Amino acid sequence: MSAPATRRDTPLRIAVLHGPNLNLLGEREPAIYGRTTLTQIDASIVVIAAELDVQVECCQHNGEGQLIDAIQSWRAGRIHGAVVNAAAYTHTSLALRDALAAVAVPFVEVHLSNIHAREPERRHSLLASLAIGMICGFGADSYRLGLRAIVGRLRENA
Ligand code: DQA
Repeated sequence: MSAPATRRDTPLRIAVLHGPNLNLLGEREPAIYGRTTLTQIDASIVVIAAELDVQVECCQHNGEGQLIDAIQSWRAGRIHGAVVNAAAYTHTSLALRDALAAVAVPFVEVHLSNIHAREPERRHSLLASLAIGMICGFGADSYRLGLRAIVGRLRENA
């Protein structure tokens, strides 16, 4: 893992990764996930990134392979930290876990819903033990809190 950037040298570059079906936010099960669209979430992330003086790139993929390709693209110091909502792959994908372990980019796991208060199959995350921490249950705010958390941690360690 390359050394984290600070305000004093190159800007921090943070990836925000959204997994399957999150492109449907706003219309998908609004009682669980709220009415905020992914476009609105990403726009609010860009505002907070500007406030924190970091660069951010947001992307969403439905496919496991596409998500793995996105994670692999973080290598060689291109991305310093990440906010990851792998959606249903959180609970099933050893391949995503392996990709996150391989790149060793520090990340915060986020979920809109409180996965620990949901069906048993959603209560376990295959990614959590690799993450710095998890933020869940705050709707779209989970992402914003996640961004502040990863930037705070990277700056603390700089
Ligand atoms: C989710 C929770 C997952 O269990 C679910 O499959 C999702 C969204 C969340 O953000 O609450 O798609 O990751």
